[in-house]
Amino acid sequence: MLETLNKIKAQTVADLETVQSTPELEALLVKVLGKKGELTALLKSLGTLPQEERPQMGAAINDVRKALQEQIDRRAQELKAKERNEALKLEAIDVTEPRPLPKRGSAHPITIVMNEMIECFTGMGFEVVQGPEVELDHYNFELMNIPKNHPARDAQDTLYIDDNVVLRTHTSPMQARVMLSRKPPIRIVCPGRVYRADEVDATHSPVFHQMEGLVVDEHISMADLRGTLTAFAKHVYGPDVSIRFRPGFFPFTEPSAEVDLTCPACKGKGCSVCKGTGWIEILGSGMVNPKVLEMCGIDSKKYSGFAFGVGLDRIAMGRYDIHDLRLLFEGDARLLGQLR
Ligand code: DAH
Repeated sequence: MLETLNKIKAQTVADLETVQSTPELEALLVKVLGKKGELTALLKSLGTLPQEERPQMGAAINDVRKALQEQIDRRAQELKAKERNEALKLEAIDVTEPRPLPKRGSAHPITIVMNEMIECFTGMGFEVVQGPEVELDHYNFELMNIPKNHPARDAQDTLYIDDNVVLRTHTSPMQARVMLSRKPPIRIVCPGRVYRADEVDATHSPVFHQMEGLVVDEHISMADLRGTLTAFAKHVYGPDVSIRFRPGFFPFTEPSAEVDLTCPACKGKGCSVCKGTGWIEILGSGMVNPKVLEMCGIDSKKYSGFAFGVGLDRIAMGRYDIHDLRLLFEGDARLLGQLR
């Protein structure tokens, strides 16, 4: 029996060194020290020995059991450490490794131009307001002093929802909404989408973008309009541009002016973009018609105002040298990604 005991011990010690993983070690533990293990079996067979040999043999088996258990524990620690190191190596992330950068999105050219204009006007003390794109005829036409028989009201130009509701044809109705809801001094800009019943081509789209501006206070004059628009033009196009006023007509302003800008393409020399004139038209403007002020509850004897409406799409096209309006609406990421 002693011989068997020594054999088990020697074999187990040898096996311990060849075992390479925790599951293998556990199997070895079961094989030797488990309930049906070799050593346990030996202990059970003590009964076959003569009475006087039993204590000595029992003690020897227990010594071996203790020694083996210690060695197995030690090996378990070793294997655990080894396995942990291997796992760490596999999981290690090299944070210094360069990898392809994700593609960055970019703001749409119209958004870029709009934000730049907002920055300019808020810098001059204007507040940004927004209004409904589905608008009542009352605001879109009536309060803007656009009479019932005006050609702009024709279904060929205006998209009607029903007799009284339209898709706003300009951002000007926000003038009325603001004047009716607050008292002067008023200084607002209103950017947003507008709609017209136009066929799509290189210069027309049924949806486009405008920014309305409105200032109402005591003693507001055409000089304030000119100063404001000059600051705006220089902010967006650079310090070298100038603007000029031409007489114009809009029912909601009196007097009205169309405003031209030094052609950004040729710097005023004359080219195909400006058709040789050196100027391009950028917006409509004027002094708010006293009739409009009164309809909107503002005393036209005490207050005066100026207003303007800018087409954002036209400005974005000029800025990015885009000759076809459709490119701004097709959302081709290859094009938009180049325009920042
Ligand atoms: N609402 C005009 C349009 O859509 C633009 C405009 C012109 C707005 C003159 C104004 C203005 O506020 O004073 O063509």
